[in-house]
Amino acid sequence: MPRPIKKAVFPVAGLGTRFLPATKAMPKEMLTVVDRPVIQLAVDEARDAGIEHFVFVTGRNKSVIEDHFDKQYELEDTLRARGKSEALAELEKDLPGAGQTSFTRQQEPKGLGHAVWCARDIVGDEPFALLLPDMVMHARPGCLKQMMDVYNQRGGNGIAVEEVPWEHVHRYGVVGAKDWKDNAFTIDGMVEKPPRDKAPSNLIISGRYILQPEIFGEIEKQKPGAGGEIQITDAMIRLMAAQDFWGVKYKGTTYDCGDKVGFLSANVALALERPDIGPDFRAALKKILS
Ligand code: G1P
Repeated sequence: MPRPIKKAVFPVAGLGTRFLPATKAMPKEMLTVVDRPVIQLAVDEARDAGIEHFVFVTGRNKSVIEDHFDKQYELEDTLRARGKSEALAELEKDLPGAGQTSFTRQQEPKGLGHAVWCARDIVGDEPFALLLPDMVMHARPGCLKQMMDVYNQRGGNGIAVEEVPWEHVHRYGVVGAKDWKDNAFTIDGMVEKPPRDKAPSNLIISGRYILQPEIFGEIEKQKPGAGGEIQITDAMIRLMAAQDFWGVKYKGTTYDCGDKVGFLSANVALALERPDIGPDFRAALKKILS
């Protein structure tokens, strides 16, 4: 049985320049899909997959993320006084337990690999999950849970992938796949943001990873890659020489909430599914589109 995965890393230091002015004073991870912040959706997914410790790599301007995962006494008192026990219970349910969160800062925007490396002491010498909160993975069971099922069989390192149109591959990390078994496969190549004709497939690295702690040593050796940033993909390519990497074409839909169209689509899709507002929203949408 592979070593259990109890910690997840959430890189949340990005500036959110694509959402200005909304993200001038507010972290992009606090933008909401209906009424849940994007970061909360990623934490929900991790918790459902058995994660017990949530490690946030933050930056300046991000302290409300820490507040979001804390108690809010004044609010809770007011809800209690007004008899709003349902809302209170919801808040309670979302809150990680005492000591189950850690926050560290990436002091400079040096890339995703560097952000992950900033969590090395908190993660320690154990395998961990990495979730990029911008990517909202709408799936049941959740994407990370689907990955855990494969990890428990195969161990090693894993990446969730999805197929995108070939004209979009240059925006993402891309993997090469062989030896498919159901929806899992062995990764035999990886490249970060390749031009279309250099991409090994149209299976993109979609924002959920399971990594062994040796990745930190590989990141340390890493020189800046695509975009002048220290890329996690480059460190994974090095680690691939020594360890197994598998991919999972997970069952679900990804919304890239770092992008306006993806963000708006996530809001529409998740609102339509909600029993409390779905029917009203569908009627409103019909009117807008008519
Ligand atoms: C990062 C990863 C890339 C992955 C993408 C998913 O890129 O480096 O491999 O496909 O996230 O969103 P970024 O979006 O930070 O440029």
